[in-house]
Amino acid sequence: MKLAKTVMSLTLGLALSASVYADGAAKFAQGGCTACHQPAVDTAGPALKTISAAYKGNEAALVAFLAGKGAPKAATGRFAGQFESLMKPQVMNGSAKWTDAERSAVAKHILKN
Ligand code: HEC
Repeated sequence: MKLAKTVMSLTLGLALSASVYADGAAKFAQGGCTACHQPAVDTAGPALKTISAAYKGNEAALVAFLAGKGAPKAATGRFAGQFESLMKPQVMNGSAKWTDAERSAVAKHILKN
């Protein structure tokens, strides 16, 4: 019985940690973010890889950006000056209205690139 409980909670724990990533990817797609952000190639917006490099080891700052509380860090090169026109509306009408858990899941999804 004790073993069964341990196995059950371990399995649940694994399923939960896997689903945080899956939910982050789903939320990112459902929020329309994939229209401008591809995993590895810069398109209309910086690639997730590019964003991830700018926020390496700083998940809290990425979560804050998604909440509308941080200055952009990846808006360099050809993306310089595009925050106000292209990305800010996505934050204000999108990620700033998400829950903390959703922003955290999306930040994890971005940072694993
Ligand atoms: C219309 C195209 C477009 C859409 C849709 C879009 N983005 Fe962006 N995004 C951009 C551009 C352009 C930049 C570069 C400017 C900047 O970094 O703010 C950017 C930058 C970012 C950054 C890096 C911010 C930084 O620190 O520089 C993150 C994180 C991000 N987007 C997340 C999202 C999320 C989450 C969504 C969906 C809610 C989304 N984007 C939807 C165009 C878009």
